[in-house]
Amino acid sequence: MSADVSALRTVVPQGFEIGRVRGDFPILQQEVHGHPLIYLDNGATTQKPAVVVETLERYYYLDNANVHRGVHELSERATEAYEGSRDKLRRFLNARDTAEIVFTRGTTESINLVAQSYGRSSLQPGDEILVTEMEHHSNIVPWQMLCEQTGAELKVVPINEAGELKLDEFERLLNERTAIVAVVHVSNALGSINPVKKLIRQAHAMGAVVLVDGAQAVAHIQVDVQDLDCDFYALSAHKVYGPTGIGVLYGKESLLNAMPPYQGGGDMIEHVSFDKTTFNVLPYKFEAGTPNIAGAIGMGAAIDYVMATGLGAISAHERGILQYATQRVAEIDGLRIIGTAELKCSILSFMLDQHHPTDVGTLLNYHGVAIRTGHHCAMPVMQHFGVPGTARASFGMYNTREDVDIFVEALKKAKDVLS
Ligand code: ALA
Repeated sequence: MSADVSALRTVVPQGFEIGRVRGDFPILQQEVHGHPLIYLDNGATTQKPAVVVETLERYYYLDNANVHRGVHELSERATEAYEGSRDKLRRFLNARDTAEIVFTRGTTESINLVAQSYGRSSLQPGDEILVTEMEHHSNIVPWQMLCEQTGAELKVVPINEAGELKLDEFERLLNERTAIVAVVHVSNALGSINPVKKLIRQAHAMGAVVLVDGAQAVAHIQVDVQDLDCDFYALSAHKVYGPTGIGVLYGKESLLNAMPPYQGGGDMIEHVSFDKTTFNVLPYKFEAGTPNIAGAIGMGAAIDYVMATGLGAISAHERGILQYATQRVAEIDGLRIIGTAELKCSILSFMLDQHHPTDVGTLLNYHGVAIRTGHHCAMPVMQHFGVPGTARASFGMYNTREDVDIFVEALKKAKDVLS
């Protein structure tokens, strides 16, 4: 096997060229129900370029070993690749130091870590946590649990009919009792981009710390945590062309240092005795147990791929696709877009007449078109718009105008069938 594996690709091509990009994702070259696959469910998870799959394969074929533990060659290689990925993520987010990059299972675990470590150790009854009406359940439920545990109170910034945050309400709700602001960068249900830099500045002026849920942002817009000055930033690799089950919590070093561990176990300790245990330095204090080594290395390969392709070019391409899709679906009578924010990216959520989104999605599947339907783990957004759920097309770097054309034709046929 090793001869074959050594031939695997180790570098990714530079620059954005749609034909090449599509060629890098072998999964796209298949038919579904006799039609070419049109994958428009990137908000749920993105496809993986061959270089990511090959990196995972190579790791398991050639390098598999535990990290930070062995003196042998394989362990050294695995450790080097694992820590190398941490530095790739540091550069991707422009964090100051790798100590600020904690590997987690993904955005959800990152948020729970902050709630249970930072939140539980610092919040008092009467403190307030400010979230928004457009949050994913992952950025609501951990804070509700924390409120139950500490006596803090959850406050919610409402959205307007376009699906934009009401900034005047944000300012009104922010006060000296606000301990934590937890806000999504890009809404997974609406595509709205929040002005997080401004929100962070305002929250800091009130003495609150800010966590940004970046799950839907990092594949589409350049993130610079130092420029944003956020205290915490959470992301999942699988939404940025990497593997599932791995993600990052960025946290400012001073905050992470002051926080108690989230979980106990191997690797997060410095010394253990039955009298007293002392904890490891950052970021290992928050990485108990054997981590998802392959996942972290695969995430590094995905980040290499995205950076080499160029986030600026990816964003510009996707902006064009979203604009085109928005224009084209306007041809369909009875189609209502849910989420019309001035600043949005990658997401087209809609209702087709009063048809249930699941029926729409099921019919599209027969044309090879993959979209997501339902509440998108954002039930409060659905309640706001008075809909049971939406049908959602979400775009990635490999989508084309031709994909949009096929999607729109399939929608027209679905409408005929359902009417
Ligand atoms: N949160 C993911 C989505 O929006 C699963 O589809």
